[in-house]
Amino acid sequence: MILVTGATGRHGGTGAHVVRRLREEGHDVRVLARTRGERTEALEALGAEVVLGDLRDRRGIVPALAGVGQVYLTYPIDAGVVPAAANYAAAVREAEVSPRTVVMSMGPAQPHHPSARGRDQWLAEEVLRWAGLDLLVLRVAAAFHENVPALHGRSVEEEGVIRNCFGDGPVAWINGRDAGELAVAALLDPGRFDGPICSPPGVEELTHHDIAAILTEELGRPVEFTPVSEEEWRRELVGLSDVVDVVNPEMAAHITAVAAVVARNGPARGADPVALRRLIGREPTTFREFVRASR
Ligand SMILES: NC(=O)c1ccc[n+]([C@@H]2O[C@H](COP(=O)([O-])OP(=O)(O)OC[C@H]3O[C@@H](n4cnc5c(N)ncnc54)[C@H](OP(=O)(O)O)[C@@H]3O)[C@@H](O)[C@H]2O)c1
Repeated sequence: MILVTGATGRHGGTGAHVVRRLREEGHDVRVLARTRGERTEALEALGAEVVLGDLRDRRGIVPALAGVGQVYLTYPIDAGVVPAAANYAAAVREAEVSPRTVVMSMGPAQPHHPSARGRDQWLAEEVLRWAGLDLLVLRVAAAFHENVPALHGRSVEEEGVIRNCFGDGPVAWINGRDAGELAVAALLDPGRFDGPICSPPGVEELTHHDIAAILTEELGRPVEFTPVSEEEWRRELVGLSDVVDVVNPEMAAHITAVAAVVARNGPARGADPVALRRLIGREPTTFREFVRASR
């Protein structure tokens, strides 16, 4: 039995992809979800068992772990990842299981990163390590394509503008489904990965001028990129968090801090489509393909 967390996600949506692919491969899947609704019904329709629980409350995680041999652990870019990791580790001990745990992580999971969410993600992984869990941590070294509609969809729609503080330099990108596919590979074929903590690369490097140009071509109307300061973009995203449910003030602080680092230093790891293709065992999706498919 494989336990999947975060399968009701609406941002990268990696968990739902993991469930779909594991079911296609014939595995028994249990989903830990906070509430029931259309998303859990869709997962049940795929043949997954749904149990209710919250990663910040150990008591619901313990029964979800019964008979589980592997876990996909993901948490949104939001506050609470350290208690979530601590509760998960304590639940594994209490349930007397020893599942191999694949953790969805990100490049900024570093002890001295300017983003507090990046430092917290690193600390959460330290907690899991101290607990002696069998881990494979995927510090995906690329931004999800899905960030573009989440963070810029409204301004593109209303003003034909992308505003952020990534500057003029390149950013490494990956599709959320390909990040999910990395997790599937890590669960089913961990030998493809080079260690308990690894940094899978993105498929391509694109500046936000490139992103705007692709949107212009694919949407058939002009989209421009306007660089703004870190504080200006953070304020815009905090405002957006009232209307776009996948955006929250913690994410606003995180992504603006990450963007400021990328603007100064470039991407921590360049894109490597060949390495990504090898890891996921298929052709990765480009940003242009993502836009076409989303339309
Ligand atoms: N965005 C990027 O550019 C990027 C790049 C690289 C790596 N990553 C990594 O990707 C991860 C996020 O993955 P994602 O985009 O697939 O997530 P997502 O779509 O935002 O989904 C988050 C999921 O976590 C669930 N969740 C939230 N709080 C929970 C709790 N307390 N207990 C149990 N479940 C909870 C949500 O459930 P509800 O439906 O109940 O809210 C949802 O199913 C992050 O760790 C980030 O580091 C992101």
